[in-house]
Amino acid sequence: MSVTDLPKVELHLHIEGAAPPAFIRGLAQEKGVNLTGVFDEQGNYAFTDFWHFLKVYEAATEVLKTPEDFGRLTRAVLEESAANGVIYTEAFLSPDFCGGGDLGAWKEYLHAIEEAARAAEAADGIILKGIVTPVRHFGPEKAKKSALCAAETAGSFITGLGMGGDEKAGKPGDFAYAFDMAREAGLRLTCHAGEWGGPESVRQALDDLRVERIGHGVRAIEDPALVERLAEDGIVLEVCPGSNVALGLYKTWQDHPVERLREAGVKVTVSTDDPPFFHTTMNHEYDRLADTFGWDEGSFAEINLTAARAAFCDEETRAALI
Ligand code: ADE
Ligand code: ZN
Repeated sequence: MSVTDLPKVELHLHIEGAAPPAFIRGLAQEKGVNLTGVFDEQGNYAFTDFWHFLKVYEAATEVLKTPEDFGRLTRAVLEESAANGVIYTEAFLSPDFCGGGDLGAWKEYLHAIEEAARAAEAADGIILKGIVTPVRHFGPEKAKKSALCAAETAGSFITGLGMGGDEKAGKPGDFAYAFDMAREAGLRLTCHAGEWGGPESVRQALDDLRVERIGHGVRAIEDPALVERLAEDGIVLEVCPGSNVALGLYKTWQDHPVERLREAGVKVTVSTDDPPFFHTTMNHEYDRLADTFGWDEGSFAEINLTAARAAFCDEETRAALI
């Protein structure tokens, strides 16, 4: 089996986190931005742990200044995704990085991103949907601004709200207002949880934010009752094994709980999170899953069907993925 040929549905990809280092260096040179400390000697992103990763991520994002920059980034990211057989992807887009939470500016960034998505679809057939992403450690007030941006632009392209950032900053309930606003605007909901926080963090995201998917969610494995709840309620996990191993959450792929979660009946899907940061691609994730857990073509077909069913898209788009 060559995983390269399998059509793939990806539900968890941060647009800034998918920026190739050379792309960021090129923009830094154009704009005269100093990126000391962002790259190692080989030119890769350099970080020591998750919290350092967040700092480096935000420093690299500093060079993405204009709607045009995000348009170019979107085009580059989708080209790489399509080369990995991705036919549909959902990207986390943060108003905090696209206009600082200002609605007027956000609309301009969104316009550029959508144009780039249209060009990529015409060229490679890949479909992009956007999930507006409050950054948790920026706090609840900024999250409300992001949710307002999401609510005001909800439609066929912006289809969800999903919080990322430092899971140890505050509690999910602190962000309920933002999630309620998005839900009332008809948006679908997901939230990073159970990555750096334990099972309680996943429970709170489900109970206090009423999300239907969980970003990562893998630490649910530490609580059998929660695993049972996820399986029974059909909560979909956006699992990013390469990200978890690269950030040191699990020492090896063998230690990763994705297979145990799947065996327990939890709906797992596979994504890359921030591929160049973690030296991964969708093909690499699939290769490692095949090598480590013996996943075959049937396993990947099941994963992709789960992802297509859980995608935050209209039914016509979904029908084309299934
Ligand atoms: N933002 C980008 N990548 C992230 C991750 N793995 N966890 C939380 N927030 C993020
Ligand atoms: Zn993520």
